[in-house]
Amino acid sequence: MYAITIAEPGGPEVLTWTEVPDESPEPGEVLVEVAASAVNRADLMQRQGFYEPPPGASPYPGLEASGRIVAVGAGVSGWAVGDQVCALLAGGGYAERVRVPVGLLLPVPKGVDPVSAAGLPEVVCTVWSNVFMVAHLRRGENFLVHGGSSGIGTMAIQLASALGARIFTTAGSEAKLARCRELGADVTINYREEDFVARVQEATDGAGVDVVLDNMGAKYLDRNVDALAVNGRLVVIGLQGGARGELDLNKLLRKRAAIAATSLRARPLAEKSAIVAAVREHVWPLIESGRIAPIIDRVMPMSEAAAAHRLVEESSHIGKVLLSVH
Ligand SMILES: NC(=O)c1ccc[n+]([C@@H]2O[C@H](COP(=O)([O-])OP(=O)(O)OC[C@H]3O[C@@H](n4cnc5c(N)ncnc54)[C@H](OP(=O)(O)O)[C@@H]3O)[C@@H](O)[C@H]2O)c1
Repeated sequence: MYAITIAEPGGPEVLTWTEVPDESPEPGEVLVEVAASAVNRADLMQRQGFYEPPPGASPYPGLEASGRIVAVGAGVSGWAVGDQVCALLAGGGYAERVRVPVGLLLPVPKGVDPVSAAGLPEVVCTVWSNVFMVAHLRRGENFLVHGGSSGIGTMAIQLASALGARIFTTAGSEAKLARCRELGADVTINYREEDFVARVQEATDGAGVDVVLDNMGAKYLDRNVDALAVNGRLVVIGLQGGARGELDLNKLLRKRAAIAATSLRARPLAEKSAIVAAVREHVWPLIESGRIAPIIDRVMPMSEAAAAHRLVEESSHIGKVLLSVH
């Protein structure tokens, strides 16, 4: 089979479509013939040598994929050859075939085409696990998501809107903010021109937001806490603005607020399977009813993985950039 390999850490040009050993499913796994995978920011870090795959994971990039089951390992029930699926992966999506533990499989939702389904697992599982399972965002609460036009942001806005929150979001251009409003954002903030803390305080009569989903890490730590309401919850999922921050803990203490930080990829299979099961129960019906959808910027052929990485690096996309195999 062929897969995108990383010849050596470096720029997008190190991604090459290479012949690699064939895969066959281990017990408890299926083999999926990949229709498409998606570019996640983590793939850029893996390509640069800053994000090693966890032990036992495929060395090829790709944290999600969609496709058709072509072989079933021992002890697998409930899934059969021919099923159209999408899956959360610890790696290996940029390939013709990928092995998937059954706990990480989801059916392609009704009404979603099999290629677009490749853009769902990573963002839906990340948003559901952090915003709802960790931060317990509730109907009527104020929710701030940074980078509203990102893959994560477009899903966070839609899900929080479907579940009745009031949504604040940041993005770097007016066109991106307009798209965020179409998806359900109530208050949109251009982070290049405006102070998001001031906008949040103004729009909440000084109360602040109940939950922040943050991609920036250190750069926004102090200001995210300033934006929080009493009993607020900040969840950090990205470190685009650095990993080492400084915080006046007195602010956190006075607000009785909480900070969590999580990463999905390296979690034990049982934990990821529980997240996938929760997503199937709570989010899949919202997709199948048409209430929320994968937001796809474009689909590029896998052979253009390098160009897709450049696009995401420049942040010229809105939603997901997919890589189709055939
Ligand atoms: N912890 C986990 O398990 C997990 C899982 C998935 C993703 N993530 C993280 O979630 C984040 C989004 O992932 P993605 O794949 O959806 O990325 P993406 O589509 O590449 O989006 C990156 C976003 O960062 C925004 N951004 C850049 N500078 C900003 C600033 N100063 N203030 C606010 N936003 C800023 C960009 O906004 P503009 O384009 O408007 O400039 C863009 O929307 C990444 O940090 C990623 O590492 C974490």
